[in-house]
This record gives sequence, C-alpha cells and structure tokens, in this order.
Amino acid sequence: MRKIIINGNKKLNGIVNISGSKNESLAVMCGALLSDDKVILRNVPNIKDVSIMKDLIDEIGYKVKSSDKIIINPPSNKKLEINEQASEIRNSILLLGPLTAKYGRVIIPLPGGCSIGNRPINFHIEGLKKLGAKIKIINGLIHSEAEKLVGAKIRLDFPSVGATCNLMMAASLAKGETKIFNSAKEPEVQNLAKFLNQMGAEIKGIGTDTLIIQGKKELSGTEYSIKPDRIETITYMILGSFPMNKINIRNTVKEDLSEVIETLKRMGVFINCKNNEIMVEGRTNQLKSTAIIAKPHPGFPTDALTLITPLLSYAKGISKITDKVFPERFSYIKELNKMGANTQQLEYNSVKIMGSHQLFGAKVSCHDLRGGMALVLAGLFAKGETIIEDVHYINRGYENYIEKLQSLGADIKQETY
Ligand code: EPZ
Repeated sequence: MRKIIINGNKKLNGIVNISGSKNESLAVMCGALLSDDKVILRNVPNIKDVSIMKDLIDEIGYKVKSSDKIIINPPSNKKLEINEQASEIRNSILLLGPLTAKYGRVIIPLPGGCSIGNRPINFHIEGLKKLGAKIKIINGLIHSEAEKLVGAKIRLDFPSVGATCNLMMAASLAKGETKIFNSAKEPEVQNLAKFLNQMGAEIKGIGTDTLIIQGKKELSGTEYSIKPDRIETITYMILGSFPMNKINIRNTVKEDLSEVIETLKRMGVFINCKNNEIMVEGRTNQLKSTAIIAKPHPGFPTDALTLITPLLSYAKGISKITDKVFPERFSYIKELNKMGANTQQLEYNSVKIMGSHQLFGAKVSCHDLRGGMALVLAGLFAKGETIIEDVHYINRGYENYIEKLQSLGADIKQETY
C-alpha cells in the first residue's frame, strides 16, 4: 500500500508540462484493435490504467511494444476471453464493442474503476444489441456474440462518454449506417472519432448530438498523437489558483476549458492563455465563492467539480456544487471535512460549502482518482502535515505527479506502508 505525505502551505511556483490524456489513450488503444495493420500511438501517459490496458491487449494476442510510443500489431492467434484484470478499470468495457465487431465474439469481465456512485453499462449493452450482438451476463462475465453487426439507429438516454465510444467503434465495422442520437461530445470522444477516421472510418457529426457512421469492411493502420490531458490541466489550474501560487502550464490546449476558465476568473483568479500555455496566478488574498453545476460537455466537467472543492473551501462565502453527471460523487467530501472544510449535503446531488476556511493537515484516505487528487490539492494548501492513504487510485491516472509537484516547490513524497 502507498501513502502520500505532504507538508503544506508552501508557495508553489514554476512550469508544469501536461501529459497525454488518460481517457483518450484508453479509448484510442481499444479503437486500434479494429485495424488490420500496425497502429503507432504517441504521447500516451505512463500510468497504471494504461499499463493494465496494454496487458489486456497483449493477452488477447496483439503484440504491444512500448517505449516513447506504443506500437500495437494485429494478432496471429487470438484469445477472446479477457482475464480478470479487466475488472480493475472502467474502460476495459471499451474492448466489448471493437472485439465483437472485429471477431464476432468476446467474453469479458464486468468493468471496475473508481467508486463514484452507480456506474451501469446498460447503454453499452442495449446499443450493441441494436447493432445485432447477442449479449448475456453470466457470473460477472459479459458474453457477446455477433455473426455480423448491422448499422442501426440508437438513442442514448444520457450522453454517456463510454457508451458513445463503444458504439462508435463497433459501428465503424458494422454493415451500413448507424446513427447515435444524444451522443457525448467530450473532447476525448471527438478525438477518438478523428482517430478512427484517420484509420479509414467514416464518422460524421463529430462534436454534435448526432453521430452518423458509415460502416467499413476494414480499417487500416495509422500513426496518432494523443492530445494533452484536459483534466490534468485543470488540476494544475486549480493548484495555481490558491493564494501565492503561480503556475505556467505548458503543452496544453485552452480549447474545451472555457467553463473552467470562466469559473476561476469569476472567483478572482488571474488566468492568461497564450498558444499552448496557460498561466494561472492566485493573486488575490481572498477568492469569491460561486455555484457550479457539473454537466456533460461543453458544461463544467464532473471530474473538475471534485478537484475545485478544496478551493471553494478557501473562497470567501457560501458555494454550492451540483453534479448532474455522477450525482453521488461526493465520498471525498467527508475526508476534506477532516481537514477543516465545512460542508453540508443538500439534495442527493449537491453540497453546500461554507468558505473562508484555512485547511489543516490530517490523516485521510482516497476513494477514487479525482477525489484523491482533491485531497492532494487540499494538503498542499493546508497548514501542517497531511497523510493520504490508498493513493493507488491517484497513481492510476496522473503521470509523474509527485515529481511535477516537487518541481513547483511542494514538500510531498510517496511511501510504502
Ligand atoms: C468517463 O466515464 C470518464 N472515464 C470519467 O472520468 C468521466 O467522469 C465521465 O466519462 C464523464 O465525463 C473514462 O473515460 C475512463 P459516462 P464513463 O458513461 O464513460 C450513466 C476519471 O476520473 N450511464 O459518461 O464511465 C452513468 O451512471 C473518470 O478520469 C448509465 O446510466 O461515464 C453516469 O451517471 C471518472 N448507463 C452518466 O451516464 C450506461 O451504460 C455518465 O457516465 C453508461 C453510463
């Protein structure tokens, strides 16, 4: 088991380079399995979730090489029964669509991932059934079979990121046209679609509510570079927003961040964007409180709502956060309260935060990736020593974060216990 120890309340100042997007990498690695040729992926972050996905793909029979880039070669022999490691991550479910479409069958354990409330997979299953797959869940294993997937009209009840990715990949090798209504528009979904198009898929309506996909007989290999991680960018933007801090965020993109930039500016944070750099400075002594509602893209991201909570604890006045994507995503709040945050659960999906609080070091534990990183941000601001347990959640999704934070002047280390 690993824990983090932070001696907080230090002035953090300097440059941080953003890594490739975790969620885009995981989706694109699954998309690569549709190809008949070699796929080369650059800028994939070196994190636990990616290494689990590499192992899963390797185990199927694809030959995966990784150094500064990941090379995925099609298999000569295939093993279409995915092992139990798949249940360690959420995005293993994205193997279901591509493998059903390409090989006509797969058995895969139900996915795992962060505990951020109920995470059903009904949209994935129902959508694939519409495309002609026969799917049963027996003893925690999803059994999927299809002679040939055939294009269909699919309406999602909620614009699910994962379901849109899965169905878009499956539809790319289905016979005929598929329309996905109420599809997700998150940048990672858009980038997966562009990657698939680079492999010869024909996906239109990228970034809109309706994706139209003309199925192809086969897709070719390609070389593709993963875009910068927007949630990692937001993490360092929030860190830079605390008083005294000044962080120059490099190798990132400001597009797709407008809701977060506006919110931070409204609170009194100084932000300057130039080309692929964002400079964030917590100039004022006291930031202003605000109300934030997390919604599907282009709304305020649910992942960022978790990360901004420690900042709202510091900001003057009463803030309110509401999550319309994962309404029960608040398990980190009781850990923050141990550090002196003053919060009150309102309706099932919202929390009131009474601000103007200096946080103090405490012993806390992680329950999920972003909640864990929220505790790191809180610990860096808090006075005294913070010990965060169960940090394997954070290690799954942030590349070199201890080194990046140390380079900004943070007193932070990770130890085994
Ligand atoms: C992705 O999760 C991301 N994970 C999440 O990031 C992110 O918070 C989320 O999208 C929303 O942006 C990965 O890409 C690995 P959804 P995903 O399907 O695809 C409901 C992180 O920390 N739903 O868009 O699992 C669901 O319960 C992670 O990096 C169904 O009801 O999210 C939720 O309320 C955490 N049935 C809503 O839709 C389904 O079949 C959105 O979920 C699927 C989803």
